[in-house]
Amino acid sequence: MSTNHHVSANAAKYLELEDQFGAHNYHPIPVVLEKGEGVFLYDVDGKRYFDFLSGYSAVNQGHCHPAIVKTLQDQAAKLTLTSRAFHNNLLGEYEAYITKYFGYDKVLPMNTGVEGGETAIKLARRWGYNVKGIAENQARIIFAEGNFWGRTLAAISSSTDPSSFKGFGPYMPGFGLVPYNDLAALENELKDTNVAAFMVEPIQGEAGVVLPDEGYLKGVRDLCTQYNVLFIADEIQTGLARTGKMLACDHEGVRPDILILGKALSGGTLPISAVLADNIVMMQIKPGEHGSTYGGNPLACAVAMKSLEVLKTEKMAENAQAMGTLLRAELEKLNSPLIKLVRGRGLLNAIVIDHKDPEVSWELCLHLLDLGLLAKPTHGDKIRFAPPLIINEAQIKEAVGIIGEALKRLS
Ligand SMILES: Cc1ncc(COP(=O)(O)O)c(C=O)c1O
Repeated sequence: MSTNHHVSANAAKYLELEDQFGAHNYHPIPVVLEKGEGVFLYDVDGKRYFDFLSGYSAVNQGHCHPAIVKTLQDQAAKLTLTSRAFHNNLLGEYEAYITKYFGYDKVLPMNTGVEGGETAIKLARRWGYNVKGIAENQARIIFAEGNFWGRTLAAISSSTDPSSFKGFGPYMPGFGLVPYNDLAALENELKDTNVAAFMVEPIQGEAGVVLPDEGYLKGVRDLCTQYNVLFIADEIQTGLARTGKMLACDHEGVRPDILILGKALSGGTLPISAVLADNIVMMQIKPGEHGSTYGGNPLACAVAMKSLEVLKTEKMAENAQAMGTLLRAELEKLNSPLIKLVRGRGLLNAIVIDHKDPEVSWELCLHLLDLGLLAKPTHGDKIRFAPPLIINEAQIKEAVGIIGEALKRLS
């Protein structure tokens, strides 16, 4: 089954260039974008689309948010990078700002999300040796099945998705897996005194917006405390107002020992990630033991502060909560036989497609593209609907109208 999606001659040029000169490590929807504004993207032929992916939740604040772009431009004209060989006038201010914002003693600034994950694991191992008293090289980190935290060798070593790990071994030792949303299985692992940390997404994003049962995060927190294991929350996709609260952990009022943020920390303008923890964890790493050329650069510091500020001043968590409730209700109202399930929290949502043919999700996304809405399947039968958090009621209704029309075309 395949829709002959029409690509303009203009767009085709760009596709050909990528095909010829770029590695084939992605399978994008056939659209070539050149402009973004708020909840909309525009292609090279000037056509407008609702963005229902938001750069995998990096663009929570909306495309080219004017205040973030202004800060980026002003700071870029002044100072962009010093390296950490020297101090800069924004790093301390940013560190104070973000630690107060989230209530931790200290932050370690990195760039991509996956580096944030790597950093959290290094911190947890070091804490395991220095504080918990685990024997050298024996520390274990536990992950949840179905996790996704990036593409480095450590990240794929904890993956249960063959398309992530297959053919890239050997893998990182010292990692273990438990089923997601299974506290009994977790407790069983945590009894091993060599376990330093459990790293988990409060909602599994790439797995298809998989929500755990209510009480799971609270249970994780309690078990980690009971067995003296660090709770690492990967809030790279769920954090920063996406799910209707500043952090997805806030829905259950739990505080992780290590918090990893990325993506929307820059509003989609440059790679900025951050690892937050208290002194007992963070102070185990000494000068020269971890870092990154770009981590904590002044441009990133300025942009991150502004990106965090607008989340609060523009009440994006509140809007995500309200618009998410509306989006799910409107999707349910479509009553489409092709939708098996609508799920999500705030503006991190997915539909599960009810069809034997796994190509149907891709087909649906091509119809959406045609009708002016951008979304992409994840894991075959799931389509994530995660627009920027500044979307309003009329826009949600218009977008769901498009989704309804695309579903009708398929049935
Ligand atoms: C939960 C989660 N963690 C980590 C990452 C990795 O982030 P990055 O692609 O910036 O390395 C992602 C990316 O999708 C993610 O969704």
